[in-house]
Formats: sequence, structure tokens, C-alpha cells
Amino acid sequence: SEPLKDIAVRKGLRFGNAIGIRNDKSGRTHFNDPRQRALMARECGVLVAENEMKWQATQPRPGAHDFAAADRLVAWAKENRMLVRGHTLVWQEAKWLPDWVNQHDFGTQPAREAERLMTEHIAAVCGHFGRDIYSYDVVNEAVDPPTGTLRRNVLNGKLGAVEQIDVAFRLARQHAPHAQLVYNDFMGPAADNARHRDGVLRLLEALQKAGTPIGALGLQSHIGSWGATAAASARRKGLDDWRRFLDEVTAMDLDLLITEFDVSDRTLPADITTRDATVAAVARDFLDLTLSYPRCRDFLTWGLSDDVSWLQTWAEAKRPDGLPSRPCPYDAQLRPKPLRDAIAAAL
Ligand code: XIL
Repeated sequence: SEPLKDIAVRKGLRFGNAIGIRNDKSGRTHFNDPRQRALMARECGVLVAENEMKWQATQPRPGAHDFAAADRLVAWAKENRMLVRGHTLVWQEAKWLPDWVNQHDFGTQPAREAERLMTEHIAAVCGHFGRDIYSYDVVNEAVDPPTGTLRRNVLNGKLGAVEQIDVAFRLARQHAPHAQLVYNDFMGPAADNARHRDGVLRLLEALQKAGTPIGALGLQSHIGSWGATAAASARRKGLDDWRRFLDEVTAMDLDLLITEFDVSDRTLPADITTRDATVAAVARDFLDLTLSYPRCRDFLTWGLSDDVSWLQTWAEAKRPDGLPSRPCPYDAQLRPKPLRDAIAAAL
């Protein structure tokens, strides 16, 4: 069948995927598997590093930069004519900041010290990759889902949370003048994501007002099988809410990207045929709507095959029956699943 990247290009889109090599807590090194690399090279026109460009990876200790793992991914992407996205310059949830940043002494002028740390980090990363990265997630997950308020962390301690995010974008603009600058978050169409979506809209409005150089909203799209077990009316409402949300975002003159797509099957029954069909159907609804926006030009999955998905090891995503989850377009034997057909049809 035709590679997804080629189908995408015919529609004026780009198709890509996240791949990892860094042996982090989850032990994710699947870039080392030649079968994973071959599958990705065949299907993808864009690469994003699953963990290798995060702050704790590029600067494990204060002032000590390490780009070795990220460089391997970028070099391979170039060999295979893929574009590269950078993920992520700043992650607002404290537990995803480097431990040394959380433990840092911010002294008597904490706002200046936070800006100094962000400057050192963003200048180093953007300076290192230069034009090899066409699009950056500048800030990740700033909105607290249950409340819709902005997360607090050591970097915004004495600054307003909006001001600190604004600083991150200005630094990214300064050090990566060519790149698309993205705010990335995981709000989705599900009913219980309403506060999260509202919070993201409020943040984007505040950034527009502040003149922040933001170019796009990243839709992580770890969508889960929302609405799959609910009534059809609930599913329709989810899609209507999602459309209203995307309308408001694009009305702010922002582009959209699907940055981390997968479909958790945590709540679905054990039977594989049913699970795969439901995952594909849910994906198709979501993708048809989201890709109908001409401002949505990039579509990246977070893992091409089930066995390498982060959802396999992520405690909150584990299935209650203990079966391996099936959230990706390919199965563990790298055979295409109904989700791959759904993606091909939605592109
Ligand atoms: C995940 C990776 O897949 C894991 O390997 C790692 O242990 C934790 O982070 N949202 C994001 C991604 O923005 O960076 C996350 O990636 C998944 C959720």
C-alpha cells in the first residue's frame, strides 16, 4: 500500500511519528531496532524525538549539555529525507522539569534567574539544531486539566504564569527565527475535557494580547476511545465541542498540528477485533474533523506500532484486564491494523 507520507504529500500534508533512543525510566530505545527504523522510513516524512530533546536530556546537569542522542535521530532523519520537530523546550508540569531545575536556588531575584535558566537552555538547543528543526513545541502542557488554570512551577514562581510562557516564546523566536513556534497540550473532544479546552483558549487569548510570537496550537491527540462506549449523541456532542474549539483557535490566526496521535483502548472490551475496529472508528471521526481545517498541515503519531507505545508502560493507561494495549496503526508484529486504514482514508 502507498506510504502514509506519500498520501499526505498528495493532500498537502506531512505525516510523521515519534521515535526514541534514550534509555529513560521507561527504557525506550526502539530507534535501535532496525525494523522500527525501516517502518518509520517507509511511512514518515517527519520525525519528532520522543524524549531526546527534553530539557533533562539536553542538559542533565546545570550547564552540561548533551545532544548525542538527539543528534543521532536528526542525522538519521536527514539521511531519510525527513523533517524534524523539536519537543519540547519547556514543560510546565513540575514533575517533567529537570530535577536540578526544581531544586535550583533562584536567589533574591527569582524572575531574572528563571529567565537566565530559560535563556541558557533555549539558546543552547536552538543554537545547536539551527535550521535542522522546522517547528518547536516551545511550551508543553501549561494548563491544569481539571481546573483550566495555569500550572505553577519554579520558573513562573515570581512571574505571572502567562508572562513566563511569553518569555519562553520570545526566547525561542530570538534563537530560532525561522521556526514555527507551537504551544502543545492534550485537551481533546471528550466531555470531561471542557475545562481543559477553555483554559487553553484563555491562555491563547492572553498570549495574543501580550503579542507573544506563537504560531500554532499543537493538538497532542492522545484521544483515547472517548465516546466509544457512550451513546451516539455523546459522541456527536464531543465532535461539536471539538469543532467549536478548533474554530476559536483558528479565529485567533493560529495554525494547528496533530503532534502525538494515539488511541488508548483502555476502556474497550478484550476482544481484539472489536477493539481494533472501535479504535479505528473513533480515530476516523476525530481525524476527518481535525484534518478538515486547512490550517492543520502536520499529523504525527506517538509510536507506529503497539509494542513501542508509551501507553504500554504508562500506569494510568494500562488496561484493567492487564492485556497489552493496541493504540497504534501497526501491531507488535508490525502488521498494519484497521487504524492504519483509518489514517490513510482520513488523510
Ligand atoms: C512521554 C514519552 O513517550 C515517555 O517515553 C516518557 O517516559 C514520558 O513522556 N505528552 C508529551 C510527551 O508531550 O512528551 C509524552 O511522552 C507523552 C505525553
